[in-house]
Amino acid sequence: MDVKGLIELDAPALAALLGHWSDGCDPLNEQLAARIGQAIDRGDIAPGTRLPSERDMARHLGLSRTTIVAAYDRLRDASMVRSRQGSGTRVAPPAGDLDDASAQRVPGLFQPFTLTERHARSGLSPMRHSLLHEPGPSTTEDVVTLTMGALPAPPGLHELIEQTVREDLPRLLADYGYLPFGLPELREAIAGYLTDIGLVTGPDEVLVTGGAQQAIHLVVGELAAPGTLVAIEDPTFLGAVDALRAAGARMLPIPLDLDGMQLEALRRVLRTTAPEFIYVVPTFHNPTGAVLPAGSRRELADMADAHGTLVVEDLTPYLGGDGIPAPIAAYARPDRVVTIGSLSKGGWGGLRIGWIRASRQLLRRITVAKTVQDHGSSVLSQAVAVRVLERAAWFGTHAEEAATERRETALQSFADLLPDWHVPRPRGGLSLWARLPYGDASTFTRMAADHGVLVRPGPVASPQGAFTDHLRVAVGEHPDRLRIGVERLAETWAAYEPHRRRAPSLAVSV
Ligand SMILES: Cc1ncc(COP(=O)(O)O)c(C=O)c1O
Repeated sequence: MDVKGLIELDAPALAALLGHWSDGCDPLNEQLAARIGQAIDRGDIAPGTRLPSERDMARHLGLSRTTIVAAYDRLRDASMVRSRQGSGTRVAPPAGDLDDASAQRVPGLFQPFTLTERHARSGLSPMRHSLLHEPGPSTTEDVVTLTMGALPAPPGLHELIEQTVREDLPRLLADYGYLPFGLPELREAIAGYLTDIGLVTGPDEVLVTGGAQQAIHLVVGELAAPGTLVAIEDPTFLGAVDALRAAGARMLPIPLDLDGMQLEALRRVLRTTAPEFIYVVPTFHNPTGAVLPAGSRRELADMADAHGTLVVEDLTPYLGGDGIPAPIAAYARPDRVVTIGSLSKGGWGGLRIGWIRASRQLLRRITVAKTVQDHGSSVLSQAVAVRVLERAAWFGTHAEEAATERRETALQSFADLLPDWHVPRPRGGLSLWARLPYGDASTFTRMAADHGVLVRPGPVASPQGAFTDHLRVAVGEHPDRLRIGVERLAETWAAYEPHRRRAPSLAVSV
């Protein structure tokens, strides 16, 4: 690989990128290696980038050269970096070919990472690595994949697809199949669905997209430019962080609890800054499972209105079902809220059907951008989606029941096997947000992969790389596999724990 012309990081630049990295109780070289590894994995340091020399780094951080050498050694052992005489230590490997076996890294957090430099610069997070490289649950016998917050297709979907092919396809095939805004019947079905869950919507306010991820990307592309301020829950859906980072947006992290975004914190931010929009996942938040109550939805809408800020609400983790307040847009002035949704959680991710509800004016601009990208979504998938949405309440309830069974199995397994971990019971959704009693989640995640279970370290779900002691544990796997997955996490913890437990303090307090 020709690395000429690629970036060089000097010691102050790398140190600034790493932030506070030495607060944990692991040895300094481990903490430094973990933090540099995370930055590489997040795409903050592109493949091919030359890292500062060990001597410069040691001088800048005021540490011994041995510590830096040990940290770089760890990164080399994990195939994260390569060193060559005369050309220093560079981030490995910007292979242009995803199948280039020589470019594969050791399993773990630093999963086979063979993305091109361009991918890495585009803000790609480790979730993209997993989608590109991790085999799905059905193809993996010996690795439990606790990284996918999605379910296999629900019962009945196969029949609906057959019915669609039999009954709708002849009519659809008579047309060209290019529909920039989406299949009219589907726009109508989405509008009807949104109206049913409390948000009165007309078909001309709806654009069909290739899943919610494309919806997020399109909305971000329209509303954000390099430097645009965006308020966002911390932690949040890592695909949104990807899209915002790729756009060069500056994220303002807002904490949340099981009742969703903490509005007091948002209020403080709005007092001093003017974000272009607030991205929020109000129902079954990914990864915490929080639900924003009705009163808070109204308050958030009022707050955004008072500050002239848009709200982008992402309803993807939810497809109908009881006891959930109406979308935020239902509490807001028209045109103040953009609503994103998808069939991926309640229907099936493989359909790649999502949507955007926005003002007609904004929707038209976004549709132009989408048309430039793809000329419209698959008509066959859209026709199936119409039938899924006709049964949205059933599919949504089924998905939440399946998710509940998985969450409960995982929670029980954690209670049995890792009682020291703090694993709050989410209100819904397909992930758990687990806090380790101590230690570093990235180091632990790497070890867990060696024990046959894949999870994500907290920082990948954080716009600021925080939550170094948290894990995102997705529970899309079959309950039997979930139990095995948690067993493997417990084995990993047993191997990790003894090294980390601190000697009891001998200090006397009076
Ligand atoms: C909050 C949120 N938004 C968007 C997505 C992406 O959904 P899709 O598969 O429809 O692209 C997900 C999937 O995990 C999600 O949890």
